[in-house]
Amino acid sequence: MSFPQHRPRRLRTTPAMRRLAAETLIAPQQLILPAFIREGLSEPNPIQSMPGVVQHTPDTLRRAAAEAAGLGLGGIMLFGIPEDRDATGSAGLDPEGVLNRAIRDVRGEVGDALVVMSDVCLDEFTDHGHCGVLDEAGRVDNDATLEVYAEMAVAQAEAGAHMLGPSGMMDGQVAVIRQALDAAGHQDVSVLAYAAKYASAFYGPFREAVDSQLKGDRRTYQMDAANRREALLEVELDLAEGADMVMVKPAMSYLDIVADIAAMSPVPVSAYQISGEYAMIEAAAAHGWIDRRAAITESVLGIRRAGADTVLTYWAAELAGWLKEGK
Ligand code: PBG
Repeated sequence: MSFPQHRPRRLRTTPAMRRLAAETLIAPQQLILPAFIREGLSEPNPIQSMPGVVQHTPDTLRRAAAEAAGLGLGGIMLFGIPEDRDATGSAGLDPEGVLNRAIRDVRGEVGDALVVMSDVCLDEFTDHGHCGVLDEAGRVDNDATLEVYAEMAVAQAEAGAHMLGPSGMMDGQVAVIRQALDAAGHQDVSVLAYAAKYASAFYGPFREAVDSQLKGDRRTYQMDAANRREALLEVELDLAEGADMVMVKPAMSYLDIVADIAAMSPVPVSAYQISGEYAMIEAAAAHGWIDRRAAITESVLGIRRAGADTVLTYWAAELAGWLKEGK
């Protein structure tokens, strides 16, 4: 009988020892809360496929933002759902449109206590549900879309967003947004580029959340789940175009991508734990098949461990509350 020379179990003997040996931490300021606001609501509207998440009214959104600031979260990412949609998504450009008003409201509520972020994309605003405008053949027209994004970005900066999140995966989107912001005097407004955004089945519940009009899919602009190397190209391009931070999305099925990008990116890396990832854990927990709190914590820890500096997660506030309690 020979005894082991090395006993890694020694560092697992007590909670205090495990805490001392923990390589990865989650802090509230690393968490970003995505939030939806829907025009014309008088009460918040629960999203069936995302139990616990609602479409906000202006009032409840302000409260959620204040709570997020109180919890010390890093940011809030706003998505707007307009009453009227058209082919070019013009409600996204309107300073009085639902998203731009929400940015103004939230900024008024939290000031600089929280980084106020907004989605620069047309899918919530178009009657066909695509992230860009269409050409005569019905294809998403990259360069025509860029012109709309530039205007949309300036409108959001004017409304008070600190950081813009272009999520449409059009080629050149970061460059045109950067140029438009600078030309309009918004040199300090930053860009969180959805650099590696994959065409994912896990966006399903988000499409309910924003009442998406999309038929078909986004495979001609979002990345193919089969590709790893291509994510590096997307990040390099976005960095060259002026991205201040880069994001990987989804997160849990793409941890290799998070790790690759964390290894090469000179700017902070974010990962978006998306609606379907949220729904899977909530559904399994509701069945009693997994321990909800432990699974949520582990999933976000895994994303951090893979290398994400910040995580967008619908559990941001709840998780920060747990961190505050001290487990
Ligand atoms: C596009 C956008 C999407 C999400 C964030 N921004 C949907 C899509 O690309 O279809 C998905 C987020 C989630 O699933 O939680 N504006």
